[in-house]
Amino acid sequence: MKAGIIFVLAALTFAQQVQPIPGAMDGISYGSLAGNTTLDVFFDHLCDGSAEAWPGLYSFWSSNQDWLRMVIHIYPLPYHYYSFSVGEAGRFIQTMYPANFTSFLSWFFQHQSKYLDAAQAWDQSQLYTNLAHDTQTATGVPFSLTEEALNKDSYDWSLRVSWKYAASKGITGTPQYMVNGIWTPGASNCVTVQDWQSFFSSLY
Ligand SMILES: *[C@@H]1O[C@H](CO)[C@@H](O)[C@H](O)[C@H]1NC(C)=O
Ligand SMILES: *[C@@H]1O[C@H](CO)[C@@H](O)[C@H](O)[C@H]1NC(C)=O
Repeated sequence: MKAGIIFVLAALTFAQQVQPIPGAMDGISYGSLAGNTTLDVFFDHLCDGSAEAWPGLYSFWSSNQDWLRMVIHIYPLPYHYYSFSVGEAGRFIQTMYPANFTSFLSWFFQHQSKYLDAAQAWDQSQLYTNLAHDTQTATGVPFSLTEEALNKDSYDWSLRVSWKYAASKGITGTPQYMVNGIWTPGASNCVTVQDWQSFFSSLY
């Protein structure tokens, strides 16, 4: 009995320690560090709300990047069946071809139904083949490089670390946002440039 309790306590202690410390700040960052505002963006490649929010957000950020830094975090949701695999291909692009990540993001946002619906009939190797082809279409990065990346553990692990990071911040879905580190549920409704303008002017 005592040994059992000690075991349970030891297991709980371990469970509390399992959040890994990311090797660098989480997310892919756009814009200047010198501005006064950082918008943390939590997106899932296969979330329709994230897809809907992206063009307006990108446009708003593009014209306000002197004061607004945008950090995109990928938070693959378990109920979007292949989100994690799409996220692994995305993590490869973020890591090796960061200049091409917004092209990747936009392409997959525009072709979500392929990975939500058609992909249900694929096996793992068909999934990887399609992902590598579509990554090439989206970014120009050669098929074989993405295919190789998908078979590596490092991108899988790096995306898990990101998932745990977002979960530890209380992020429960996508799109969700934080302004200077504070969760702002109201931003989840923003779609147009005008929505973002109103959101930021209502903050302070
Ligand atoms: C941040 O900087 C922008 C541009 O200079 C300015 O319009 C905005 O009011 C600033 N925000 C705060 C909270 O000071
Ligand atoms: C990645 O993006 C850069 C900058 O937009 C572009 O010049 C380059 O051709 C892209 N890379 C590939 C492999 O297409």
